[in-house]
Amino acid sequence: MNAPISPASPAETLRSALAGLLDGLPPKQATQAVDRLIANYRGRTPTDAPILRDRADVAAYAAYRMPATFEAVRSALGALADAAPAGWAPGSHVDVGGGTGAATWAVSATWDGERPVTVLDWAEPALALGRELAAANPVLKAAQWQRSRIGAALSIESTDLVTVSYVLKELTEDDRRSLVDAAAAAAAQAVVIVEPGTPDGYTRVIQARDRLIAAGFRIAAPCPHSSACPIVPGEDWCHFSARVSRSSLHRKVKGGSLAYEDEKFSYVAAVRFDADPAGERVVRKPQIRKGQVLLDLCAADETLHRETVTKRHGPLYRAARDAEWGDAWPPHQES
Ligand SMILES: C[S@@+](CC[C@H](N)C(=O)[O-])C[C@H]1O[C@@H](n2cnc3c(N)ncnc32)[C@H](O)[C@@H]1O
Repeated sequence: MNAPISPASPAETLRSALAGLLDGLPPKQATQAVDRLIANYRGRTPTDAPILRDRADVAAYAAYRMPATFEAVRSALGALADAAPAGWAPGSHVDVGGGTGAATWAVSATWDGERPVTVLDWAEPALALGRELAAANPVLKAAQWQRSRIGAALSIESTDLVTVSYVLKELTEDDRRSLVDAAAAAAAQAVVIVEPGTPDGYTRVIQARDRLIAAGFRIAAPCPHSSACPIVPGEDWCHFSARVSRSSLHRKVKGGSLAYEDEKFSYVAAVRFDADPAGERVVRKPQIRKGQVLLDLCAADETLHRETVTKRHGPLYRAARDAEWGDAWPPHQES
């Protein structure tokens, strides 16, 4: 008897949905759209009008950036899921500045089952493509894709989870504050904010973190506590890395031949419920030496320190050898 075929994971489904994307687009037009996108993102943001103006722009965005933003958000949501009570899952989700819907795919890759999903963005072509891609994902088929401008007038319907991924960078200071306040007001359970893993991205995440704490949230991840971040501004920045495997389409659009790339991101997951944050968090790539592992950790006592785990530590040493940048430390016990 043949073994049952297991359904494709959301990550695989997204990959094949993206693979068909540039099919109808002449290679020259696709390349031009990617070049324009890069120039716009390097240029001055915020802009007064959407950067994603037409189908070629959004197809380029989806092919060029969506696999990476999907993996970054998935990684942040995984840390939230680890800190949340066993069995917790959001009952509803609003993705603000959701574009082509990377965060909705990441939610479906983190928690099984269907939930009401709304994606808000001011770029109609991005929403249209997001809707088209989502048709391939059974739990996103009923998602609502709504045109909405982030600003002082933004109001978000009440929901369990609000995600804001790679959006703060595109906003003025005032609009950033309006967005974080609206997210805090709307989210009954959790807000997850993800930004590029740059010093600026980290600064925007910390500002949002402060605002969410002032609004009554606690931090579930990455921080082991909800007190002030111990990083001295200007000296370092908290960020993590998500591995993104590159499809042939992705290689074609981005150039190069590597099978993967590492997406650096900063994030915060803030919650209204009692979370169990990491005791400590690995905040750098662990350094493996002969017989020892050096771990740079952010700790619950609001300090950053380096721990050297040696063979003499037995099972902890084996755990340290498996530890990855961004993991909770010591590892959560399997129950
Ligand atoms: C870099 S993309 C991120 C898209 C998606 N969240 C992701 O992670 O892939 C930024 C998105 O924010 C949207 N955006 C920027 N400024 C906005 C505004 N003032 N109002 C509504 N959407 C905005 C853009 O249209 C775009 O879809």
